[in-house]
Amino acid sequence: MNVHVFAPGRVNLIGDHTDYTGGLVMPMAIDRYTEIKGTRGGDRVRLTSFDEPEPVDLPLEIDDPQHVEPAWAKYVAGVVAELHPREGFTGHVSTDIPIGAGLSSSHALQVAVAMALGHRGGIIDLAQLTQRAENRSSGVPTGIMDQLTIAAGVQGHALMIDCGALTVQPVPMPDDLEVVVQFVAHRTLVGSAYADRVAECAAAEALIGPLRTATQEQARAIDDPVLRMRALHVTAENQRVREFAAALAAGDLVEAGRLVKDGHESLRLLYATSTPVMDEAVAALNATPGVYGARMTGGGFGGCVVALTEPGVLTQGWVVQAVDGARVVES
Ligand code: GLA
Repeated sequence: MNVHVFAPGRVNLIGDHTDYTGGLVMPMAIDRYTEIKGTRGGDRVRLTSFDEPEPVDLPLEIDDPQHVEPAWAKYVAGVVAELHPREGFTGHVSTDIPIGAGLSSSHALQVAVAMALGHRGGIIDLAQLTQRAENRSSGVPTGIMDQLTIAAGVQGHALMIDCGALTVQPVPMPDDLEVVVQFVAHRTLVGSAYADRVAECAAAEALIGPLRTATQEQARAIDDPVLRMRALHVTAENQRVREFAAALAAGDLVEAGRLVKDGHESLRLLYATSTPVMDEAVAALNATPGVYGARMTGGGFGGCVVALTEPGVLTQGWVVQAVDGARVVES
């Protein structure tokens, strides 16, 4: 069977570092895609890529996806290890999602591989499977936001995702709002403080219960200053996502921009996932006439910043559109 898969990248508008405590996020799938074209059959998974000198060649049974070669094969191996496909695949990968820039190029690859290998569950199952695959491939305990966005994207809409209930509510993007992504620095979450943040949230939850439902007052009462700051970020960020959705619905783009700016300050000061270069990029954007608000987006420690603007005011960066989630064409 011939298979052609399209999996988009994603940008998060607001709600960062909330997904792994079951909180709220507001990303959108973007008009940049990883594609896989090929044929199902055989008992190996063989993939070539324009962006990688070495091909992937894997068996259908894999125990340890983290230690396969070449490096990009581990993402494929994670999916194979979770999916246990009945048959193999031979094909080619191409992408126009910038790789390693924090726009979910690796998650798009994993969702695309799962679909190429014949994943048959629904969207939530696909997101959960590829999240487990990602965690096993990278060893980093990342949340479900990226995979769910790539799987569930809706054209012209951001997605308000409740990462605890796993519900996805499409929120229309106003026509007079432009989303611009600027690349700041390559990054990987492997070896970053991402896993520390997950552990700090777990430690805060041991004190005040699930951050998903905790109040700002409860967060403020934590004695340990680091855990207090982390909990304050998460509880306030969940609230910002709700207010952002309301601002978009009301067409109040100034208010939406204010929330985005506050979100960046919280990630910078309370959550410590920004970097000085990202702060500079955000400050320059926020000082530009016609920009409602800008912030770092995604895991941080490098990656991209995102700006919400009046149409046509920025000359640098990628103007991105909200698109539908991943799809497969079989023939
Ligand atoms: C990365 C992770 C996501 C999420 C963000 C931060 O993109 O893959 O699960 O935690 O960081 O919001």
